[in-house]
Amino acid sequence: MKADYRVRVLFDETAIADRNRELARSIAATASPDLLVVAILKGSFMFAADLIRALHRSGLSPQVEFIHLSSYRASTVSSGKVAILRDVESDVAGRDVLLVDDILESGRTLVYAKDLLAARGARRVMVAVLLEKPGKRAVEIDADFVGFQCPDVFVVGYGMDIAHNFRQLPFVGVVAHGQSEPDLFDRP
Ligand code: IMP
Ligand code: MG
Repeated sequence: MKADYRVRVLFDETAIADRNRELARSIAATASPDLLVVAILKGSFMFAADLIRALHRSGLSPQVEFIHLSSYRASTVSSGKVAILRDVESDVAGRDVLLVDDILESGRTLVYAKDLLAARGARRVMVAVLLEKPGKRAVEIDADFVGFQCPDVFVVGYGMDIAHNFRQLPFVGVVAHGQSEPDLFDRP
């Protein structure tokens, strides 16, 4: 199946790196010194790794945690249900938390994560996402920090997958089927 896919670049490495620097500066301007970053696995792992290093360069020394949530289950259609596959280890009570995710789409994943941490007593929960797909929200939530507005297409790369493929790509791209488009790359 993978052989039939081509990936067209949507946000390249330079654009992402530049935006991460800007996001980090904005986050550093409002976050407290004892910030706890909670990256939502798996899709955010690459964004989180770059954003955390950018936060360091912006003068922050965040602690870092991971929570593995699942809503997609190896398909491109949201199930609407969120499950915890692996929980954070830290006590978040009283903490200033920055949740980091790849995409804000229906909002169910981030509402679930935000409510969970708030219920455990987090003092403040802010949200940073690499991409926001407008017009797709099923529940009310806004991200405090957004990398890019994303067109209503299924994207992969930079940590994001389709059926477990393409997470390794250093850019965000759009999957196209077949080989008809001339400007598509599979390994730039
Ligand atoms: P939400 O709960 O509907 O907001 O879904 C957000 C999650 O769905 C993201 O964290 C991604 O894991 C996944 N997702 C949504 N759109 C895409 C996409 O275009 N490509 C890959 N994953 C996606
Ligand atoms: Mg995800």
